[in-house]
Amino acid sequence: MEKNGQRHRRRLVLLPCPFQGHINPMLQLGSFLHSKGFSITVIHCKFNSPNPSNHPSFEFIPFKDGLSGDDISSGDLVRIIQVANVGCKSHLHECLSQIMTQRRGGQNDDVACIIHDELMYISQAVANSLKLPSIVLRTTSAATFLARTAILTLKAEGYIPFQGIYVTIDSASQDPVPGLHLLRFKDLPVPRSKTLRGFEQIVVDSYNIGTSSAIVWNTMESLELSLLEQIQQQCQVPVLPVGPVHKFAPASYSSSLLEEDTSCMSWLGKQTKNSVIYVSMGSIASMDEKELVELAWGLANSQQPFLWVIRPGSNSYGSDQWIEELPKVLRETLGEKGCIVKWAPQKEVLAHSAVGGFLSHCGWNSTLESICEGVPMICRPSFGDQKVNARYLSHVWRVGLELEELERGQIERAVRKLMVDKEGEAVRESANNLKGKVELCIRAGGSSDDSLNRLVDMIMSF
Ligand code: UDX
Repeated sequence: MEKNGQRHRRRLVLLPCPFQGHINPMLQLGSFLHSKGFSITVIHCKFNSPNPSNHPSFEFIPFKDGLSGDDISSGDLVRIIQVANVGCKSHLHECLSQIMTQRRGGQNDDVACIIHDELMYISQAVANSLKLPSIVLRTTSAATFLARTAILTLKAEGYIPFQGIYVTIDSASQDPVPGLHLLRFKDLPVPRSKTLRGFEQIVVDSYNIGTSSAIVWNTMESLELSLLEQIQQQCQVPVLPVGPVHKFAPASYSSSLLEEDTSCMSWLGKQTKNSVIYVSMGSIASMDEKELVELAWGLANSQQPFLWVIRPGSNSYGSDQWIEELPKVLRETLGEKGCIVKWAPQKEVLAHSAVGGFLSHCGWNSTLESICEGVPMICRPSFGDQKVNARYLSHVWRVGLELEELERGQIERAVRKLMVDKEGEAVRESANNLKGKVELCIRAGGSSDDSLNRLVDMIMSF
């Protein structure tokens, strides 16, 4: 790699936020940049460490994140993010300065910059103190960015009443949010805890781009052009939509924290085209016992084959025992019609010709992965940005059906509508059309490809 006529090894330091939905896009971006000749060092929290053996060409360096067992077991994402940012500052400084002065292969490595997840916002100050350029990676949609910002404005203008520390956004309110007419109050991306304590500060800290040189965004013009233009107008540095970034990494590339059960691929191989409904709620959302049983009945009654991911810890049973407690007739139908796994190779699953629909919590990665394969969705968001994504999927891009409740009758009807009924034709067609538009962004000269080239040029200019 050449800079100013001299040969330089250029190293990039990546810092993901320690959750699956954030690790994936960061490592996918790393994989693309590695293919362009950069060396990659991933520095990461000890909590949810990525598996280095999945990425043999990257260097991995864990740093002390300051998270206690209590922080982690609280499941409180806001708390975990805040503690990690405060707790890691001095370790991060030490870790980065060591990387910058380290000698590899007899020469000092030339560290070009750090690319950090927006939620690891402390990196910016640390990088600045070391005179290292920094770039932010945003891993949710542009619509979510604007909606989170709007929550702060709504609070300041008194639209969101508060009782103590709790938000009292009416979770059923269909009223449009002033200034965000596509979203209703019920779609606002409030955290799982429903308290804004800490959340507001995270929004402020992660949206303050300070001394960053660019914002790399895992979204694309075919989905969010006008929102991206609006954001770019308010922003002094380039906003680079590079999504769907998984499409720029090798198809087999996996950064799963859990082991993928690939046996479901041979099961899919025995199903007919577009017949299978894939069901997964991502890496964080959970379900109570009643919802789990309703979902089992809904899937069984739909008569469609299904592939269902039930992640360990995602329900109160904590094991496979719940299946044993179901009525015999339901157990038999599940066994006959379905395949249940603890974790699936999701990108491969969605790309399989047997899969014709996705019942999802609408995490942003799942949303992009489904859109890319033209798979229409049933949207059952749980918290945060998932609610915004669900609204856009069902009412803007029109590739998804909203599921109000995890109730067996509603699930059965939604599955049949999405997969087989004439009523669902429009949504199936839109999904197919949107896939085509996304392909235009990815191909050589497309907007995402162009953004990635701009990113590489920018890094080379540092
Ligand atoms: C979280 C938030 O919930 C999400 O809304 C936010 O946008 C990112 O952080 P998560 O809930 O895990 O993420 O959802 P999602 O963004 O969809 O990410 C899940 C990832 O895990 C996807 O890349 C998906 O392919 C992968 N996955 C999921 C698997 O590899 N196997 C599975 O069985 C399920």
